[in-house]
Amino acid sequence: GVAGPSSFAFDSLGGGPYVSVQDGRILKYEGATACFVEFAFDAPTRSSAVCDGQSNYDDLGSTCGRPLGLDFNPLTQQFYVADAYVGLMVVGPKGGLATKLASGVNGVPFRFLYGVGHDPLTGDVYFTEFSNVYQLRDITLAVNNGDATGSLLKYDPLTKQVSVLLTGLSGASGVAVSGDGTFVLVGELIGNRIKRLWIKGPKCNTTETFIEFPGRVNRIRRTILGDFWVAVNVVINPVTNVTLPTGKGISPFGTVLETVTVDKEYNNTRISEVQEHLGKYYVGSRHVNVNFVGVYDTI
Ligand SMILES: *[C@@H]1O[C@H](CO)[C@@H](O)[C@H](O)[C@H]1NC(C)=O
Ligand SMILES: *[C@@H]1O[C@H](CO)[C@@H](O)[C@H](O)[C@H]1NC(C)=O
Ligand SMILES: *[C@@H]1O[C@H](CO)[C@@H](O)[C@H](O)[C@H]1NC(C)=O
Repeated sequence: GVAGPSSFAFDSLGGGPYVSVQDGRILKYEGATACFVEFAFDAPTRSSAVCDGQSNYDDLGSTCGRPLGLDFNPLTQQFYVADAYVGLMVVGPKGGLATKLASGVNGVPFRFLYGVGHDPLTGDVYFTEFSNVYQLRDITLAVNNGDATGSLLKYDPLTKQVSVLLTGLSGASGVAVSGDGTFVLVGELIGNRIKRLWIKGPKCNTTETFIEFPGRVNRIRRTILGDFWVAVNVVINPVTNVTLPTGKGISPFGTVLETVTVDKEYNNTRISEVQEHLGKYYVGSRHVNVNFVGVYDTI
């Protein structure tokens, strides 16, 4: 009865996947019998009667919320959520209504949060605002108009302050910090590339293009070994914008290590995330016709 699994997280006991879905909820997989059960939500105004199973952002987005990015920090046990309509959230261990950490910066409300990831050493939280002009419901318009008003932001859990690190991003999508905490990768969905911002060392505070792809760059997830998986929807017909859903495994040096295509199961539906966890790939798609979580064996 729900669709659009956008992103995944696993807790430190191996529980999950937790998955963010279209009707504003975060579900938790409880095994083959119970399957996916309701775990948390972001909008205090959300009610099951109005929101469950719905997909109409135009009318319901601000009432029901739309968690897009999920990220669990196993060291601090904090479960972060980037909600497109509500803001940067944290979910407690028992779930339920999430707590809002930030809904704007410098007095300006966020328009459309997308991705979230933590620094494994400092615990700082990096997150993206896809656009500060368009909202989630206008994503096709933002893409077709070449929007470049996205930002990379940081939330410091100690001071509780939000700072703006990069602006002018073209569809700021996924975000991931390197395993050694020296740099942050940020995807530009409309710009078809990943930028790297150094946050430590001699190049601190400088930005460079990390890698470019012939397609739409979505979420970036770090693996346990410190590589990354990037969901890329490779454009195969620029006129109709038909894409090939692809996972790209990349090293911290920007080398493509592996390419997997999932069109056999997803056809030309765009995917949002490829995440590796204990020998499996979990594939997410924000798309309305995807009402399942794709799980692949890595070998
Ligand atoms: C495909 O993308 C281009 C450029 O972003 C846009 O102008 C065009 O309208 C899109 N076509 C379709 C069928 O959405
Ligand atoms: C990087 O930028 C931050 C924020 O503006 C500043 O506090 C810090 O001193 C800068 N670090 C370096 C090495 O330039
Ligand atoms: C892909 O196409 C098949 C066959 O038409 C269909 O059963 C399946 O639901 C499609 N998958 C998606 C993700 O749309």
